[in-house]
Amino acid sequence: MMLDSARRLMMPSARSDVPPFMVMDVMAAAARIEAAGGRVVHMEVGQPAFGAPGPAIAAVQARLGRSALGYTESLGFPSLRARIARHYAETYGLTIAADRVIVTTGSSAAFILAFLSMFEAGDRVAIANPGYPPYRHILTALGCEPVLIETDAATRFAVTGDNLLAAHRKKPLQGVLVASPANPTGTMMTPAALGELIRVAEDAGIKVISDEIYHGLDYAMPAETAARLSENVVVINSFSKYFCMTGWRIGWMVVPEGLVRPIDRLHGNLAISVPTLSQIAAEAAFDGKPELDAIKHGYEDNRKILIEGLPRAGLSKFLPVDGAFYLYADVSEFSRDSFDFTKRLLQEAHVAATPGVDFDPVNGSHFVRFCYAGSAADMKEAVERIGAWLHKR
Ligand SMILES: Cc1ncc(COP(=O)(O)O)c(C=O)c1O
Repeated sequence: MMLDSARRLMMPSARSDVPPFMVMDVMAAAARIEAAGGRVVHMEVGQPAFGAPGPAIAAVQARLGRSALGYTESLGFPSLRARIARHYAETYGLTIAADRVIVTTGSSAAFILAFLSMFEAGDRVAIANPGYPPYRHILTALGCEPVLIETDAATRFAVTGDNLLAAHRKKPLQGVLVASPANPTGTMMTPAALGELIRVAEDAGIKVISDEIYHGLDYAMPAETAARLSENVVVINSFSKYFCMTGWRIGWMVVPEGLVRPIDRLHGNLAISVPTLSQIAAEAAFDGKPELDAIKHGYEDNRKILIEGLPRAGLSKFLPVDGAFYLYADVSEFSRDSFDFTKRLLQEAHVAATPGVDFDPVNGSHFVRFCYAGSAADMKEAVERIGAWLHKR
Protein backbone atom coordinates (compact mmCIF):
# COMPACT_ATOMS: atom_id res chain seq x y z
CA MET A 1 0.00 0.00 0.00
CA MET A 2 2.79 2.39 1.04
CA LEU A 3 4.67 1.37 -2.06
CA ASP A 4 1.65 2.06 -4.26
CA SER A 5 1.12 5.57 -2.94
CA ALA A 6 4.85 6.33 -3.23
CA ARG A 7 4.74 5.10 -6.81
CA ARG A 8 1.71 7.30 -7.52
CA LEU A 9 3.54 10.34 -6.12
CA MET A 10 6.42 9.71 -8.48
CA MET A 11 4.22 9.04 -11.54
CA PRO A 12 5.24 11.27 -14.46
CA SER A 13 2.37 13.00 -16.26
CA ALA A 14 0.98 11.45 -19.43
CA ARG A 15 1.88 14.63 -21.34
CA SER A 16 5.59 14.13 -20.53
CA ASP A 17 5.52 10.78 -22.32
CA VAL A 18 7.06 12.05 -25.57
CA PRO A 19 9.42 9.83 -27.62
CA PRO A 20 13.17 10.41 -27.40
CA PHE A 21 15.27 11.44 -30.39
CA MET A 22 16.78 8.23 -31.82
CA VAL A 23 19.74 10.13 -33.20
CA MET A 24 20.96 10.20 -29.59
CA ASP A 25 21.50 6.43 -29.81
CA VAL A 26 23.52 6.90 -33.00
CA MET A 27 25.62 9.59 -31.31
CA ALA A 28 26.29 7.38 -28.30
CA ALA A 29 27.35 4.48 -30.54
CA ALA A 30 29.62 6.82 -32.54
CA ALA A 31 31.22 8.05 -29.30
CA ARG A 32 31.96 4.43 -28.31
CA ILE A 33 33.72 3.79 -31.63
CA GLU A 34 35.76 6.97 -31.19
CA ALA A 35 36.66 6.10 -27.58
CA ALA A 36 38.08 2.83 -28.93
CA GLY A 37 40.26 4.77 -31.39
CA GLY A 38 38.04 4.60 -34.52
CA ARG A 39 37.41 7.61 -36.78
CA VAL A 40 33.76 8.36 -37.47
CA VAL A 41 32.49 10.70 -40.18
CA HIS A 42 29.67 12.57 -38.47
CA MET A 43 26.60 13.22 -40.59
CA GLU A 44 24.01 12.59 -37.91
CA VAL A 45 23.66 15.81 -35.96
CA GLY A 46 22.02 18.79 -37.63
CA GLN A 47 24.39 21.49 -36.57
CA PRO A 48 27.22 23.50 -38.12
CA ALA A 49 30.76 22.29 -37.44
CA PHE A 50 31.78 25.95 -37.01
CA GLY A 51 31.45 28.31 -34.05
CA ALA A 52 29.84 31.74 -33.71
CA PRO A 53 31.25 34.41 -36.05
CA GLY A 54 34.19 36.56 -34.88
CA PRO A 55 32.22 39.76 -34.13
CA ALA A 56 29.86 37.80 -31.82
CA ILE A 57 32.77 36.39 -29.80
CA ALA A 58 34.51 39.80 -29.67
CA ALA A 59 31.34 41.51 -28.39
CA VAL A 60 30.97 38.97 -25.60
CA GLN A 61 34.64 39.19 -24.64
CA ALA A 62 34.37 42.99 -24.45
CA ARG A 63 31.29 42.74 -22.21
CA LEU A 64 32.56 40.12 -19.74
CA GLY A 65 34.18 41.48 -16.61
CA ARG A 66 32.26 44.76 -16.80
CA SER A 67 29.08 45.33 -14.77
CA ALA A 68 26.76 42.52 -13.68
CA LEU A 69 24.78 40.74 -16.36
CA GLY A 70 21.19 41.30 -15.31
CA TYR A 71 17.90 40.20 -16.79
CA THR A 72 16.84 42.04 -19.92
CA GLU A 73 13.41 43.09 -21.18
CA SER A 74 11.29 39.97 -21.55
CA LEU A 75 10.88 40.57 -25.30
CA GLY A 76 14.64 41.08 -25.75
CA PHE A 77 17.08 43.99 -25.92
CA PRO A 78 15.42 46.78 -27.95
CA SER A 79 18.65 47.19 -29.95
CA LEU A 80 18.66 43.48 -30.88
CA ARG A 81 14.98 43.59 -31.86
CA ALA A 82 15.74 46.60 -34.06
CA ARG A 83 18.76 44.81 -35.58
CA ILE A 84 16.63 41.78 -36.41
CA ALA A 85 14.01 44.07 -38.00
CA ARG A 86 16.81 45.61 -40.10
CA HIS A 87 17.81 42.09 -41.18
CA TYR A 88 14.37 41.79 -42.88
CA ALA A 89 15.01 45.01 -44.78
CA GLU A 90 18.51 43.89 -45.81
CA THR A 91 17.63 40.30 -46.69
CA TYR A 92 14.10 40.46 -48.07
CA GLY A 93 13.62 44.20 -48.74
CA LEU A 94 10.79 44.09 -46.22
CA THR A 95 9.88 46.64 -43.56
CA ILE A 96 9.08 44.98 -40.23
CA ALA A 97 8.35 47.02 -37.10
CA ALA A 98 10.88 46.15 -34.38
CA ASP A 99 7.91 45.97 -31.97
CA ARG A 100 6.77 42.79 -33.73
CA VAL A 101 10.13 41.06 -33.16
CA ILE A 102 10.51 38.90 -30.04
CA VAL A 103 13.83 37.37 -28.94
CA THR A 104 13.58 33.76 -27.72
CA THR A 105 15.77 30.98 -26.31
CA GLY A 106 16.35 29.37 -29.69
CA SER A 107 13.49 28.63 -32.01
CA SER A 108 12.62 25.78 -29.63
CA ALA A 109 11.28 28.24 -27.06
CA ALA A 110 9.56 30.18 -29.84
CA PHE A 111 7.46 27.10 -30.67
CA ILE A 112 6.27 26.87 -27.07
CA LEU A 113 5.38 30.57 -27.02
CA ALA A 114 3.68 30.37 -30.41
CA PHE A 115 1.60 27.30 -29.54
CA LEU A 116 0.60 28.68 -26.13
CA SER A 117 -0.37 32.10 -27.47
CA MET A 118 -2.15 30.88 -30.62
CA PHE A 119 -3.95 27.69 -29.61
CA GLU A 120 -6.20 26.28 -26.93
CA ALA A 121 -5.69 22.82 -25.45
CA GLY A 122 -7.29 20.35 -27.85
CA ASP A 123 -6.65 22.46 -30.96
CA ARG A 124 -5.48 20.59 -34.05
CA VAL A 125 -2.34 21.75 -35.85
CA ALA A 126 -1.28 20.37 -39.24
CA ILE A 127 2.38 19.58 -39.92
CA ALA A 128 4.14 17.94 -42.85
CA ASN A 129 5.21 14.32 -42.60
CA PRO A 130 8.19 13.79 -42.64
CA GLY A 131 9.05 16.66 -40.33
CA TYR A 132 11.09 17.86 -37.37
CA PRO A 133 9.93 15.63 -34.46
CA PRO A 134 9.71 18.30 -31.71
CA TYR A 135 6.84 19.97 -33.61
CA ARG A 136 4.72 16.93 -32.82
CA HIS A 137 6.09 16.37 -29.35
CA ILE A 138 5.80 19.97 -28.12
CA LEU A 139 2.24 20.21 -29.43
CA THR A 140 1.35 16.96 -27.66
CA ALA A 141 2.99 18.01 -24.39
CA LEU A 142 0.98 21.26 -24.50
CA GLY A 143 -2.29 19.40 -25.01
CA CYS A 144 -2.72 20.20 -28.72
CA GLU A 145 -3.13 17.58 -31.41
CA PRO A 146 -0.52 17.33 -34.18
CA VAL A 147 -2.14 16.29 -37.47
CA LEU A 148 0.39 14.72 -39.83
CA ILE A 149 -0.14 15.54 -43.49
CA GLU A 150 1.54 13.07 -45.85
CA THR A 151 3.70 14.78 -48.46
CA ASP A 152 5.28 13.55 -51.68
CA ALA A 153 7.67 14.45 -54.48
CA ALA A 154 4.97 16.15 -56.56
CA THR A 155 4.83 18.98 -54.02
CA ARG A 156 8.48 18.96 -52.95
CA PHE A 157 7.39 17.25 -49.71
CA ALA A 158 5.43 20.29 -48.50
CA VAL A 159 1.85 20.70 -47.29
CA THR A 160 -0.36 22.12 -50.05
CA GLY A 161 -3.58 24.10 -49.83
CA ASP A 162 -5.48 21.05 -51.15
CA ASN A 163 -3.99 18.66 -48.55
CA LEU A 164 -4.71 21.18 -45.84
CA LEU A 165 -8.34 21.66 -46.84
CA ALA A 166 -8.87 17.90 -47.17
CA ALA A 167 -7.66 17.41 -43.56
CA HIS A 168 -9.68 20.42 -42.39
CA ARG A 169 -12.87 18.99 -43.92
CA LYS A 170 -12.38 15.68 -42.10
CA LYS A 171 -12.04 17.46 -38.76
CA PRO A 172 -11.42 21.21 -38.36
CA LEU A 173 -7.86 22.41 -37.96
CA GLN A 174 -6.88 25.52 -36.02
CA GLY A 175 -3.29 25.80 -37.23
CA VAL A 176 -0.67 24.71 -39.73
CA LEU A 177 3.10 24.80 -39.33
CA VAL A 178 5.36 24.89 -42.40
CA ALA A 179 9.14 24.90 -42.81
CA SER A 180 11.15 25.85 -45.88
CA PRO A 181 13.93 24.76 -46.14
CA ALA A 182 12.75 21.77 -44.14
CA ASN A 183 14.31 19.23 -41.81
CA PRO A 184 14.85 16.30 -42.51
CA THR A 185 14.08 16.57 -46.22
CA GLY A 186 16.18 19.63 -47.11
CA THR A 187 13.41 20.55 -49.59
CA MET A 188 11.95 24.03 -50.06
CA MET A 189 8.56 25.47 -50.96
CA THR A 190 8.54 27.81 -53.92
CA PRO A 191 7.38 31.33 -52.97
CA ALA A 192 4.19 30.65 -54.99
CA ALA A 193 3.49 27.40 -53.07
CA LEU A 194 4.04 29.14 -49.73
CA GLY A 195 1.83 32.05 -50.77
CA GLU A 196 -0.95 29.73 -51.92
CA LEU A 197 -0.85 27.69 -48.70
CA ILE A 198 -1.05 30.84 -46.56
CA ARG A 199 -3.95 32.17 -48.63
CA VAL A 200 -5.92 28.92 -48.39
CA ALA A 201 -5.20 28.53 -44.67
CA GLU A 202 -6.18 32.07 -43.77
CA ASP A 203 -9.37 31.89 -45.88
CA ALA A 204 -10.32 28.80 -43.88
CA GLY A 205 -9.52 30.49 -40.55
CA ILE A 206 -6.42 28.34 -39.98
CA LYS A 207 -3.49 30.13 -38.29
CA VAL A 208 -0.07 29.78 -39.93
CA ILE A 209 3.36 29.34 -38.35
CA SER A 210 6.42 29.44 -40.61
CA ASP A 211 9.65 27.90 -39.28
CA GLU A 212 12.39 29.78 -41.17
CA ILE A 213 15.34 28.48 -39.15
CA TYR A 214 17.18 27.35 -42.32
CA HIS A 215 16.86 30.67 -44.13
CA GLY A 216 20.28 31.82 -45.32
CA LEU A 217 21.04 28.20 -46.30
CA ASP A 218 19.13 28.09 -49.59
CA TYR A 219 20.74 26.78 -52.79
CA ALA A 220 18.04 25.77 -55.27
CA MET A 221 16.01 28.99 -54.99
CA PRO A 222 15.90 32.04 -52.71
CA ALA A 223 13.92 31.39 -49.53
CA GLU A 224 10.83 33.58 -49.18
CA THR A 225 9.74 34.78 -45.76
CA ALA A 226 6.11 34.25 -44.86
CA ALA A 227 6.26 37.68 -43.18
CA ARG A 228 6.04 39.22 -46.66
CA LEU A 229 2.99 37.18 -47.59
CA SER A 230 0.81 37.94 -44.58
CA GLU A 231 0.93 40.05 -41.43
CA ASN A 232 -1.09 37.40 -39.59
CA VAL A 233 1.56 34.70 -39.84
CA VAL A 234 3.91 33.87 -36.96
CA VAL A 235 7.47 33.56 -38.27
CA ILE A 236 10.06 31.68 -36.25
CA ASN A 237 13.80 31.90 -36.84
CA SER A 238 17.04 31.26 -35.00
CA PHE A 239 20.72 32.06 -34.70
CA SER A 240 21.46 28.31 -34.57
CA LYS A 241 21.97 27.37 -38.21
CA TYR A 242 23.13 30.11 -40.66
CA PHE A 243 24.68 32.02 -37.74
CA CYS A 244 26.39 28.86 -36.34
CA MET A 245 25.25 29.54 -32.76
CA THR A 246 23.38 26.39 -31.66
CA GLY A 247 24.84 26.37 -28.14
CA TRP A 248 24.04 30.03 -27.51
CA ARG A 249 20.35 29.13 -27.50
CA ILE A 250 18.97 32.20 -29.16
CA GLY A 251 16.33 32.77 -31.81
CA TRP A 252 13.44 35.07 -32.61
CA MET A 253 9.86 35.38 -33.75
CA VAL A 254 8.02 37.95 -35.85
CA VAL A 255 4.41 38.00 -34.68
CA PRO A 256 1.18 39.87 -35.48
CA GLU A 257 0.83 42.95 -33.27
CA GLY A 258 -1.98 41.38 -31.25
CA LEU A 259 0.27 38.56 -30.03
CA VAL A 260 3.13 40.74 -28.74
CA ARG A 261 1.66 41.48 -25.32
CA PRO A 262 0.33 37.93 -24.68
CA ILE A 263 3.77 36.52 -25.54
CA ASP A 264 5.43 39.18 -23.38
CA ARG A 265 3.29 38.02 -20.44
CA LEU A 266 3.91 34.32 -21.13
CA HIS A 267 7.65 34.75 -21.59
CA GLY A 268 8.01 36.93 -18.50
CA ASN A 269 6.43 34.15 -16.46
CA LEU A 270 8.07 31.17 -18.15
CA ALA A 271 11.64 32.40 -18.51
CA ILE A 272 11.88 36.10 -17.51
CA SER A 273 14.29 36.82 -20.36
CA VAL A 274 16.74 35.26 -22.83
CA PRO A 275 20.39 34.93 -21.61
CA THR A 276 21.93 38.40 -21.79
CA LEU A 277 25.31 37.31 -23.17
CA SER A 278 23.63 35.45 -26.00
CA GLN A 279 21.68 38.56 -26.93
CA ILE A 280 24.89 40.59 -27.03
CA ALA A 281 26.50 37.92 -29.22
CA ALA A 282 23.48 37.71 -31.52
CA GLU A 283 23.36 41.44 -32.21
CA ALA A 284 27.04 41.43 -33.21
CA ALA A 285 26.65 38.20 -35.23
CA PHE A 286 25.00 40.18 -38.05
CA ASP A 287 28.42 41.82 -38.63
CA GLY A 288 29.86 38.36 -39.28
CA LYS A 289 27.93 37.81 -42.53
CA PRO A 290 31.04 37.59 -44.81
CA GLU A 291 32.38 34.78 -42.61
CA LEU A 292 28.98 33.09 -42.47
CA ASP A 293 28.47 33.35 -46.23
CA ALA A 294 31.84 31.63 -46.73
CA ILE A 295 30.60 28.77 -44.52
CA LYS A 296 27.41 28.59 -46.58
CA HIS A 297 29.51 28.28 -49.74
CA GLY A 298 31.29 25.37 -48.07
CA TYR A 299 27.90 23.66 -47.58
CA GLU A 300 27.18 24.27 -51.25
CA ASP A 301 30.41 22.46 -52.15
CA ASN A 302 29.47 19.60 -49.80
CA ARG A 303 26.03 19.40 -51.39
CA LYS A 304 27.64 19.02 -54.82
CA ILE A 305 30.01 16.30 -53.55
CA LEU A 306 27.04 14.30 -52.23
CA ILE A 307 24.72 14.89 -55.19
CA GLU A 308 27.44 13.68 -57.56
CA GLY A 309 29.09 11.09 -55.30
CA LEU A 310 26.22 9.26 -53.60
CA PRO A 311 24.67 7.88 -56.83
CA ARG A 312 28.12 6.49 -57.76
CA ALA A 313 28.32 4.99 -54.27
CA GLY A 314 24.95 3.29 -54.81
CA LEU A 315 22.48 5.70 -53.19
CA SER A 316 20.71 7.28 -56.11
CA LYS A 317 17.24 7.91 -54.74
CA PHE A 318 17.05 11.11 -52.74
CA LEU A 319 14.79 14.13 -52.42
CA PRO A 320 15.66 17.47 -54.08
CA VAL A 321 18.59 18.89 -52.10
CA ASP A 322 17.23 22.45 -52.00
CA GLY A 323 18.44 23.97 -48.74
CA ALA A 324 19.44 23.59 -45.07
CA PHE A 325 22.26 21.01 -44.88
CA TYR A 326 20.34 17.77 -45.25
CA LEU A 327 20.04 15.08 -47.87
CA TYR A 328 17.19 12.61 -47.35
CA ALA A 329 17.89 9.32 -49.10
CA ASP A 330 15.55 6.44 -49.83
CA VAL A 331 17.48 3.29 -48.80
CA SER A 332 14.60 0.86 -49.28
CA GLU A 333 16.43 -1.12 -51.99
CA PHE A 334 19.00 -2.04 -49.30
CA SER A 335 16.89 -2.18 -46.15
CA ARG A 336 13.33 -1.73 -44.95
CA ASP A 337 14.64 -0.85 -41.50
CA SER A 338 16.51 2.46 -41.57
CA PHE A 339 17.40 2.16 -37.88
CA ASP A 340 19.23 -1.10 -38.57
CA PHE A 341 20.73 0.38 -41.77
CA THR A 342 22.24 3.36 -39.91
CA LYS A 343 23.42 1.10 -37.09
CA ARG A 344 25.34 -1.09 -39.52
CA LEU A 345 26.58 1.86 -41.58
CA LEU A 346 28.09 3.21 -38.37
CA GLN A 347 29.51 -0.06 -37.06
CA GLU A 348 30.89 -1.32 -40.37
CA ALA A 349 31.76 1.87 -42.30
CA HIS A 350 32.08 4.37 -39.44
CA VAL A 351 29.66 6.84 -41.04
CA ALA A 352 27.04 8.23 -38.64
CA ALA A 353 23.65 9.18 -40.14
CA THR A 354 20.12 9.51 -38.75
CA PRO A 355 17.35 6.97 -39.43
CA GLY A 356 14.23 8.41 -41.01
CA VAL A 357 12.07 6.83 -38.30
CA ASP A 358 12.98 9.81 -36.12
CA PHE A 359 11.17 12.12 -38.53
CA ASP A 360 8.46 10.01 -40.09
CA PRO A 361 6.40 7.42 -38.22
CA VAL A 362 4.83 6.25 -41.53
CA ASN A 363 7.59 5.76 -44.13
CA GLY A 364 10.69 6.69 -42.14
CA SER A 365 11.96 3.12 -42.04
CA HIS A 366 12.84 3.54 -45.75
CA PHE A 367 14.84 6.76 -45.37
CA VAL A 368 18.12 8.02 -43.91
CA ARG A 369 19.08 11.66 -43.30
CA PHE A 370 22.62 12.77 -44.01
CA CYS A 371 23.75 16.14 -42.64
CA TYR A 372 26.39 17.84 -44.80
CA ALA A 373 27.38 20.61 -42.39
CA GLY A 374 30.90 19.13 -41.94
CA SER A 375 34.07 19.57 -44.02
CA ALA A 376 34.44 18.78 -47.73
CA ALA A 377 37.13 16.21 -46.85
CA ASP A 378 34.62 14.43 -44.58
CA MET A 379 31.98 14.43 -47.33
CA LYS A 380 34.42 12.87 -49.81
CA GLU A 381 35.43 10.28 -47.26
CA ALA A 382 31.77 9.51 -46.46
CA VAL A 383 31.03 8.91 -50.15
CA GLU A 384 34.04 6.56 -50.41
CA ARG A 385 33.10 4.65 -47.28
CA ILE A 386 29.41 4.34 -48.17
CA GLY A 387 30.33 3.15 -51.68
CA ALA A 388 32.78 0.52 -50.42
CA TRP A 389 30.29 -0.65 -47.77
CA LEU A 390 27.31 -0.93 -50.12
CA HIS A 391 29.35 -2.78 -52.74
CA LYS A 392 30.56 -5.31 -50.16
CA ARG A 393 27.03 -6.16 -49.08
C1 LIG B 1 13.43 22.59 -38.46
C2 LIG B 1 14.01 22.96 -37.14
N1 LIG B 1 13.35 23.85 -36.39
C3 LIG B 1 13.82 24.19 -35.17
C4 LIG B 1 14.99 23.65 -34.65
C5 LIG B 1 15.42 24.06 -33.25
O1 LIG B 1 16.55 24.87 -33.26
P1 LIG B 1 16.96 25.90 -32.15
O2 LIG B 1 16.13 25.70 -30.94
O3 LIG B 1 18.41 25.63 -31.91
O4 LIG B 1 16.75 27.27 -32.74
C6 LIG B 1 15.71 22.74 -35.41
C7 LIG B 1 16.94 22.13 -34.88
O5 LIG B 1 17.56 21.26 -35.46
C8 LIG B 1 15.20 22.38 -36.69
O6 LIG B 1 15.83 21.51 -37.48
